[in-house]
Amino acid sequence: MSTFTIDTSTSRATPTPVPGKRTTAPAIRARKSGGKTEQPVVMLTAYTMRMAQLLDPYCDMLLVGDSLGQVIYGLPSTIPVTMEMMCAHGAAVVRGSWHALVAVDMPFGSYEASPEAAFESASRIMKETGCAAVKLEGGEAMAPTIEFLTHRGIPVIGHVGLTPQAVNVLGGYGARGREDAEKKTIIDDARAVDQAGAFCIVVEGVLEGIASDITKAVAAPVIGIGAAAQCDGQVLVTDDMLGMFERTPRFVKRYDDLAGRIGDAVRNYADEVRSRSFPTADQTYQPK
Ligand code: KIV
Repeated sequence: MSTFTIDTSTSRATPTPVPGKRTTAPAIRARKSGGKTEQPVVMLTAYTMRMAQLLDPYCDMLLVGDSLGQVIYGLPSTIPVTMEMMCAHGAAVVRGSWHALVAVDMPFGSYEASPEAAFESASRIMKETGCAAVKLEGGEAMAPTIEFLTHRGIPVIGHVGLTPQAVNVLGGYGARGREDAEKKTIIDDARAVDQAGAFCIVVEGVLEGIASDITKAVAAPVIGIGAAAQCDGQVLVTDDMLGMFERTPRFVKRYDDLAGRIGDAVRNYADEVRSRSFPTADQTYQPK
């Protein structure tokens, strides 16, 4: 149970966070010791200040995922997501949180060319948002970049398996690792990212057995999404788990039906506007 409270007394838009010490990358890394994780890592995506406030008391990490391309901007994939989008939403999430570690996704095209290019992008993200870590997609090919960043003060979350920025190479968003060769590549990727110094690793959209093999094979905590309950933690896209979308991947569990509840509330509002039963005396100003 959280000991944090939300203080919205000063302003609805910029509440005063209760001073506290944020969760750190070394603290997340230390959750797994001797191959075991007593307390699974809880991570959700957040893109806005208010959602960060609501999630923060319950989460160890908030991920400003580039999934905001589809969820917030209605883009067809994460490919068109820009640095400007990631920085603006990253800063909002940092402002709305005080306990969770905030990690920001590096957008497609901002880190692949070289470790130096990655450092320039990651340092910009950290300076402009105040986040404490970045996440980047890729396995063996990205290991030198992860090592370069971590040796220069930038905590990195790896991301292997189904890597959505590579959708044009993968040919879709289906689960990975059905062939033996691909299974081996995914496990090798996770090992490479681990050895390069990633403080945790997101494993997305792989067969359950691969996710548990990776969890056993690497030292860093493995955060699963469409992976396995045996992982060292889990992450979901918050809008998916809250039921904001009719269509979600198989691995999403819906914990609410927010889309339905918003529809009901807005239908009531529209009916009351049309029947002139809103606003009432409670919502109007009278002379003193
Ligand atoms: O972009 C994102 O939200 C992610 C998570 C789904 C892991 O990368």
